Amino acid sequence: RDIEKGPYPHYMLKEIDEQPFAIRKLITKYQNDIGEIAIDEDIREAMKETDRIYIIACGTSYHAGLVGKQLFERITNVPVEVHIASEFLYNRPLLSSNPIFIFISQSGETADSRGVLVEIKKSGFRALALTNVPGSTLSRESDYTLNTYAGPEIAVASTKAYTAQIAVLAILASDCARNRGIQLNFDLFLELGLAANAMEILINKKEKIEEIVWKYLSVSRNCFFIGRSVDYYVGLEGALKLKEISYIQAEGFAGGELKHGTIALIEDGTPVIALLTQPQVKGNIRSNVQEVMARGANVCLISMEGIEDKNDQLVIPYIHEYLTPLVSIIPLQLIAYYAALYRGCDVDKPRNLAKSVTVE
Ligand code: G6P
Repeated sequence: RDIEKGPYPHYMLKEIDEQPFAIRKLITKYQNDIGEIAIDEDIREAMKETDRIYIIACGTSYHAGLVGKQLFERITNVPVEVHIASEFLYNRPLLSSNPIFIFISQSGETADSRGVLVEIKKSGFRALALTNVPGSTLSRESDYTLNTYAGPEIAVASTKAYTAQIAVLAILASDCARNRGIQLNFDLFLELGLAANAMEILINKKEKIEEIVWKYLSVSRNCFFIGRSVDYYVGLEGALKLKEISYIQAEGFAGGELKHGTIALIEDGTPVIALLTQPQVKGNIRSNVQEVMARGANVCLISMEGIEDKNDQLVIPYIHEYLTPLVSIIPLQLIAYYAALYRGCDVDKPRNLAKSVTVE
């Protein structure tokens, strides 16, 4: 049943729509009867003892890792490094005395990530696989597994696995904080539930997103995504989605880096999608928007309730500032989807790409 398209024209659209359900499912899977986080004791111990977390991943899972690093460092006292799997072995970082490796992988089969796992196991380090496929290679060869429970993801472009990975990282980070005696001033499961509701609200605004695509991307060959703080990481994922399935050349940039190079590329009509969900970057990202508009850019500003302006093109509902990527990615996934559709591209099976890459 799970892997039928049902009424949907594409798996990708079905999987985008399934995201609120996937988050609610995670809440039931990781919450015990008394409302506390339920995670295996051995994982808990390993997370409590470690002095540094090394996240290893590729593609969309790497982008989830970047969000995860910020989450962990904001709510636990544990430093985190995020590495692209294929680069890790060449640029092997100096490791801390008690590292733990978290392999994030939808499929659990990615050869680049497995290459790192094999190497670090030789040195006796511990590994945790965060995967959508518990019986997968990475899961079997790691010491511990956390399941993302997103259900089968068929479209090559990953959507629901990404948001599920971020939600599980938030659960793991909260659990880790608690076990280290850190009091959190928010109720994670409540906030995750609110994020799921907000995702649903945006999913029901598909016509609005189609309009954005029509207005900004119907003729252009390129598109920039800008953001600051965690919005920068979400922009990277938005750009990846767009290039994967619509073949529009897309890049994500940190707002502050514009002036150091990218702004040279802005000309009349260049589409720029700007994200604003973090109150502390509000002034600076709005200045970036002014700067690119002054050079002719066609700016679509996606902001969050509470820090929005009446001229913003799309306002996403308010959610806890740690969980905004779960919601701000939804319009970007839908933008990629409709852009691919308008261009007549094969949404679910883009050229040259594979769902799971089992060669290095
Ligand atoms: C492939 C897919 C991407 C995915 C990446 C990592 O390139 O096309 O969508 O993000 O592999 O896959 P994983 O299964 O390890 O998350």
